[in-house]
Amino acid sequence: MKLFDVYPLFDINIVKGKGCRVWDEQGTEYLDLYGGHAVISIGHAHPHYVEMVSKQVATLGFYSNSVINKLQRQLAERLGKACGYEDYQFFLINSGAEANENALKLASFYNGRTRVLSAEKAFHGRTSLAVEVTNNPKIIAPINDNGHVTYLPLNDLEAWTREIAKGDVCAVIVECIQGVGGIRMATAEFMQGLRKACDETNTVLICDEIQCGYGRSGKFFAHQHLGVRPDMITVAKGIGNGFPMGGVLIAPKFTPVYGQLGTTFGGNHLACSAALAVLDVVEQEGLTENAAKVGAYLLKELKLLPGIKEVRGEGLMIGMEFDAPIKDIRLKLLKEQHVFTGVSGTNVIRLLPPLCLSMDEADEFLLRFKKVLA
Ligand SMILES: Cc1ncc(COP(=O)(O)O)c(C=O)c1O
Repeated sequence: MKLFDVYPLFDINIVKGKGCRVWDEQGTEYLDLYGGHAVISIGHAHPHYVEMVSKQVATLGFYSNSVINKLQRQLAERLGKACGYEDYQFFLINSGAEANENALKLASFYNGRTRVLSAEKAFHGRTSLAVEVTNNPKIIAPINDNGHVTYLPLNDLEAWTREIAKGDVCAVIVECIQGVGGIRMATAEFMQGLRKACDETNTVLICDEIQCGYGRSGKFFAHQHLGVRPDMITVAKGIGNGFPMGGVLIAPKFTPVYGQLGTTFGGNHLACSAALAVLDVVEQEGLTENAAKVGAYLLKELKLLPGIKEVRGEGLMIGMEFDAPIKDIRLKLLKEQHVFTGVSGTNVIRLLPPLCLSMDEADEFLLRFKKVLA
């Protein structure tokens, strides 16, 4: 059987990782400024992570959600403290799309409505509702195109409040820093205005922190730069440092109902031990503070480089927009300078390194990047 060929691939087989570096099967070393698409938060093969996951799989990898799982409770407690949402509830699933799917579903159970507002250029995943709130017609299949969603320009508060005031909007969903959309940032005025409009109409405010959350922006959540508390926060990617996991942080006003939400694999023992190891390392190594420091340095230095139209971002989530397509620059970075980076559309290079990127590694990247731009 062949693989279903949906990914345009680089002809590189990565076989090993350590910290912010990965190696291919020929032994070539690469600097990882992509983090496997913002997934590697604490670094590749962190010893504490390896130890905790190895111990857990040797003890109990999985049992179902029909029994108490103390690791889940521990994780919810630890996460609540780490991010400042101790009064919220936590529901665990396996991916980002599932997190948004469940958040939207719960919002609809809560207020009985079916309309959703989402931002232009938004990306929220590929399952039915998650893809419907994603502003990319190419990936919305006819079966997912069910007319629930109005897309509006990010930060156009008037347009959003006008729709919300109609009283029929179930939820609004926003990435406070758009990832796939090209590192575009919501403003504090916009988010605070949305919060107020949602409160007045019992509309649910969901922040998708799947890419911009978990320390990446230099605060635990990107919306914490903007002075709002959403009703639900969705997380995935960095939460398990590569172990497939997603979660929804749910405000106290939502009452759980037996059977309404559920999952076979979500929050299993192995996943929780991975997520607990991640929180240990994020705290012990001050990775959120590191993302703020190294990110600010990179942003400052990148803004000095000639030939880049705009540098945007916060912490270790950085976009560099060029006037022309960046395909060749990215390929040169990879093939000649051995640096992995991400992309948004045709003209934006995205940097999403592990949060442990050091100042020396940032300098190493800048040096290699300058060689490509020269
Ligand atoms: C902001 C955002 N939301 C949701 C998703 C979907 O996550 P997953 O691929 O784990 O389903 C992504 C993935 O890139 C994302 O960047």
